[in-house]
Amino acid sequence: MSEKTQSGGASVAFTDLTGETQTIWEGNAAFWDEQMGEGNDFQLRLIGPATERLLNLQPGERVFEAACGNGVFSRRMASLGAQVMASDFSPTFVERAQARTVGQPYAERVSYHVADATDEAQLVALGDGASFDAAYCGMAFMDMTTIEPLLRAVRRLLKPDGRFVFSQAHPCFNSGTFRLAIEEEDVSGEIRTVYSVRIARYSQPQAARGLGILGQPEPHYYFHRPLSELLGACFRAGFALDGLEEPTFPPEASSARPLSWVNFHEIPPVLVARLRPIG
Ligand SMILES: C[S@@+](CC[C@H](N)C(=O)[O-])C[C@H]1O[C@@H](n2cnc3c(N)ncnc32)[C@H](O)[C@@H]1O
Repeated sequence: MSEKTQSGGASVAFTDLTGETQTIWEGNAAFWDEQMGEGNDFQLRLIGPATERLLNLQPGERVFEAACGNGVFSRRMASLGAQVMASDFSPTFVERAQARTVGQPYAERVSYHVADATDEAQLVALGDGASFDAAYCGMAFMDMTTIEPLLRAVRRLLKPDGRFVFSQAHPCFNSGTFRLAIEEEDVSGEIRTVYSVRIARYSQPQAARGLGILGQPEPHYYFHRPLSELLGACFRAGFALDGLEEPTFPPEASSARPLSWVNFHEIPPVLVARLRPIG
């Protein structure tokens, strides 16, 4: 399946948008860092715990991280005792991540680098062969014009028995063309509120701009890939899938914003997966 989108009536390959995605993320980085701080609801309640279970990091292990943003999870991994080499293609994100790390007790264990994850050679050049025990990419596959170079690079950077955990917006519920809905239902006299997701387009890759955090300076691109395309890229790069979590907010969680994902307790907004090198 070719990853193309429509722009002004013309068909454009996702990869033609890499420069624009970098400019947009660089422009959003300071705002995003201030909002994310040391973690928001998504990071602290959904993504972080599932990622930690799947990564199962041991003190002293070496981890490579792509698209680290402000380094919120890089610091978490370092605080758990890992040696972390983190990267992002936005220099401002990297500066913000460094500033948040200075003076922390684990600061010696984290380094941050500017690198474009759609460029296999740039990522491989950061490492020294197949020397990493683990790799992580959090909530960023759907922001990348192509994920194949990153998957190939991680395959080369990981030890043969390493693992690669990634999280991303759930391709089935929180990606593509979808709407969130709230309805009321009368169940034998009891009025219930029903939260649902309506999917209009899923099967084809598509690119569209949207908001990751309300109020961000510019909407950024989301690159939707159906599950077969997402996992197919992982399998082609020489990985097998051996762990999967679809975390949801717990029943007691609630947000004053009616259509916040925090209120959707039955539908996972993110998917967290673990890959292992094969062959
Ligand atoms: C939604 S943020 C997630 C940041 C961080 N991983 C987290 O969980 O908070 C997406 C990140 O992907 C980065 N990104 C997007 N495309 C990238 C690329 N081609 N190479 C490197 N970083 C990229 C952005 O700069 C941004 O930091």
